[in-house]
Amino acid sequence: MLAIIGAMDEEIELLLGDLQGRQDLSYPGATLYRGQLDGVTVLLTRGGIGKVNAALTTAHLLAAGATRIIFTGVAGGVHPDLRVGDIVISTDCVQHDVDVTALGYELGTVPGESPAWAADETLRAAAVAAAGEVSGVRVIEGRVASGDQFIASPEGVRRLQTTFNAACAEMEGAAVAQVCAKAGVPFVIIRSVSDTADGSAGVDYREFMPQVARHAKAVVRGMLARL
Ligand code: ADE
Repeated sequence: MLAIIGAMDEEIELLLGDLQGRQDLSYPGATLYRGQLDGVTVLLTRGGIGKVNAALTTAHLLAAGATRIIFTGVAGGVHPDLRVGDIVISTDCVQHDVDVTALGYELGTVPGESPAWAADETLRAAAVAAAGEVSGVRVIEGRVASGDQFIASPEGVRRLQTTFNAACAEMEGAAVAQVCAKAGVPFVIIRSVSDTADGSAGVDYREFMPQVARHAKAVVRGMLARL
């Protein structure tokens, strides 16, 4: 079963409104919504903020029968070509806030775990094609860097570029990826750029969120048609 995690209520609301035959499933710390979107049975949920919430939600989705996971949300653009509104599709995910270098591990590597988790080729291709139909935005495929930090400085952006070759910064993707990898379940992370992570342009979320929510819905439905 395909599962969709939206970062925010606004994103979930539009998709939730379209969900047919909705059933609410209660899990500790998360409600999962099961139903049909465009005739496809899906699980839908709001993931909450940060890696712990993302890991918890992902584990619940797997327990409820998810076999493929799509995450949609916003991110800070790190790739220099990205502007507010553009879309990043994950090639892979890293945890930029993990530091066990004192014990000889590479920055970002959790001992005993992979240094990065690759997104699924089929989900990536469907996401790129679906995002390409959203007019007026650039779509970039690249590495998603996750950490329990909101990045808001030029130094922070440079660090993510030079150390991790990241395309964008957010707070959940790599946690979803790590849990999916343990279960052998394919995933892809889709992010709309809400800021450039350098503390410059303030984002008017009241204007931006409805646009992000519309894009998330369009990309998810475009993917459903292709999968
Ligand atoms: N989500 C949206 N913008 C972000 C940023 N600059 N850093 C981390 N997560 C984000």
